[in-house]
Amino acid sequence: MEKIKVKKVILARRPHGALKKEDFAIKEDKLGEPQPGDVIAETLFLGIDAGLRALMNEEPSFAPNYKLNEVLFGQGIGRVIMSKNDQLKEGDIIFAPSYPWQTAVHFTADQIKEGKIKKVDASIPPSLYVSTLGNNGLTAYFGLLDIGQPKEGETVIVSAAAGGVGQVVGQIAKIKGCKVIGIVGTDRKLRFIKEDLGFDDGINYRAENVEAKLQKLCPTGANVFFDNVAGDVGDSVLKNLSLHARYICCGAVSAYNKQPRDDIGLRPQFILIERGIKMQGFIIFRDYGDRLDEGLKQLTEWYREGKLKHKETVIEGIENVGQAMVDILSGKNIGKLVVRVAADAQVAP
Ligand SMILES: NC(=O)c1ccc[n+]([C@@H]2O[C@H](COP(=O)([O-])OP(=O)(O)OC[C@H]3O[C@@H](n4cnc5c(N)ncnc54)[C@H](OP(=O)(O)O)[C@@H]3O)[C@@H](O)[C@H]2O)c1
Repeated sequence: MEKIKVKKVILARRPHGALKKEDFAIKEDKLGEPQPGDVIAETLFLGIDAGLRALMNEEPSFAPNYKLNEVLFGQGIGRVIMSKNDQLKEGDIIFAPSYPWQTAVHFTADQIKEGKIKKVDASIPPSLYVSTLGNNGLTAYFGLLDIGQPKEGETVIVSAAAGGVGQVVGQIAKIKGCKVIGIVGTDRKLRFIKEDLGFDDGINYRAENVEAKLQKLCPTGANVFFDNVAGDVGDSVLKNLSLHARYICCGAVSAYNKQPRDDIGLRPQFILIERGIKMQGFIIFRDYGDRLDEGLKQLTEWYREGKLKHKETVIEGIENVGQAMVDILSGKNIGKLVVRVAADAQVAP
């Protein structure tokens, strides 16, 4: 049988400062012959996550760093096109949190036994599994509900509110009966979170003074802050939190393109002590790895009930994965940023 040709996205050099599309390259390769228990999947979508930028550096991060000239990986979804495995048949849709960024992938029997890939419900548009029903949704779900513990009537603030994680955070907070304020970088995103997602209010941090606007929108302070960006936005919100507020450190996008991490910003200890604020970080797979099914079940239910809307920005073609990483860090995406690899893969309505 003729070997399947694939295109792979590799890290061509370690980025310094702002990511450039030249930091990535495409390499051609061929897949090996599938052995008993193996499957081959064609790639449908890759989910582009802002946090993956940290794995491109030399310094250690939340997961093993990418190696130079080797294929990159992130959350991905594929369709089985060849199966020698009893549990998986041609046409099944599979998700992997560490899916190699290539046009088709050979998953071995051992990888399948170890649970590295998971069959998902083919009746749901596949791109949702690299977004609202994937890492992003799970991060929003556990970060907000487990760490933030929002109560009905409380005010929740979320930064990068129109992005992959942020769009889910705000909607879950609405489901829980909270007032939601989203912080975003454009007026178009502001309209999206208010008109499409039903957030109560929003702030464009590039055009408005975040501190002053927050004092107006929540004069007694907000109760929960789900922070995706840190930096100046994080400092401004911290100053506007109430007694016993919860500050969830999910990500720090404002610093990802900076090296080294030398932007010290506000020293928060006094505010934390005086207002009894809890500030906590987390890594979804490390801290909630044994509860992911619980989160997926609830997110799927909300999605099916029409309570979780989902928007995505779609970039076409594996050749444009590098550009997609550049785009997410400069805020070009509204909703989840995905790369469609198989031209016929169905995008979410
Ligand atoms: N802790 C975990 O386990 C975990 C898991 C998954 C994701 N995360 C984190 O969740 C966050 C969101 O990830 P995502 O993949 O869903 O990305 P995203 O929110 O879809 O995209 C990133 C957004 O960050 C905003 N941004 C960029 N530069 C900024 C700056 N200087 N200041 C403020 N905002 C800036 C942009 O929106 P604007 O136009 O609004 O600026 C951009 O759209 C990231 O911090 C990521 O690392 C954490």
